[in-house]
Amino acid sequence: MQDFSEQNITAAVVEAFQGTPDPRLKTVMAALVRHLHDFVREVDLTQEEWSYAIDYLTRTGQTEQRQEFILLSDTLGISILVDAINHRMPTGATETTGLGPFYVHNQPELPLGFDLGRGLKGEPLYVEGFVSSTTGAPVPNASVYIWQSDDEGYYDVQRNDSSGSKLRGRFRTDPQGRFDFWSIMPTSYPIPEDGTVGEMLRATGRHPYRPAHVHFMVAADDHETLVTHIFAEGDAYLDSDAVFNVKRSLIREFTKEPQGSAPDGSRMDRPWRKLTYNFGLKPLAMERAA
Ligand code: BEZ
Ligand code: FE
Repeated sequence: MQDFSEQNITAAVVEAFQGTPDPRLKTVMAALVRHLHDFVREVDLTQEEWSYAIDYLTRTGQTEQRQEFILLSDTLGISILVDAINHRMPTGATETTGLGPFYVHNQPELPLGFDLGRGLKGEPLYVEGFVSSTTGAPVPNASVYIWQSDDEGYYDVQRNDSSGSKLRGRFRTDPQGRFDFWSIMPTSYPIPEDGTVGEMLRATGRHPYRPAHVHFMVAADDHETLVTHIFAEGDAYLDSDAVFNVKRSLIREFTKEPQGSAPDGSRMDRPWRKLTYNFGLKPLAMERAA
């Protein structure tokens, strides 16, 4: 029996996990205890702060509108850190980002060139690109999933209307690995701030905005599925994304185009925007070799 003190409590708790049968769990628990104890010692945590933290985490878990813990992980940079550690990509592979909360499964496949922005207000946006393997070979028949906000910064799932999917869909690359579709310009938008994450952002003087972006998920046989976003060059929030997802290689100019004919032959009676992005997929064989 020993008296526990500030000095010896950490070693004692780590020792209590020595019998953990799963070696990975043992490593994780020991590191977690060491880091949590060091944090408490570093900030000299008060009893009131400890109580506040317990209440804050309890309320985070009780948030009914969404999985607030994921949003907390996003705004603390943990989600993107885990993503980075798990996606060390080879040259030629597109960089990854998080999926975010607005992805919806089972989107129907749409014909190439389809207009996701039909009936919506906003500046028309034409998106085109290729999918290739890091070997340089085009990837035909790849599924390209898209989702984005509207011109007021809302996803369809945030709007209380029953008119179905908007600004999301799934396309398949043609035999040359090419895809294209029409949409509207996305805008920057705030992440949900009516929960404990909003409380944290306000208390720390942080804003909740994400720079304008289009989400992409690209899945193809024999390749690692790519989850990423493409961000609009010039957006005011590129340097301060509330969830730290921006990477230089994912920023592109959404070029301003005059009225007239578009690359797919459409006649545009007003100015429009164009985004071109070529995606590189990592072959699964590289994963096995590593
Ligand atoms: C999004 O881009 O859709 C998103 C990502 C993380 C948190 C909130 C929104
Ligand atoms: Fe988004």
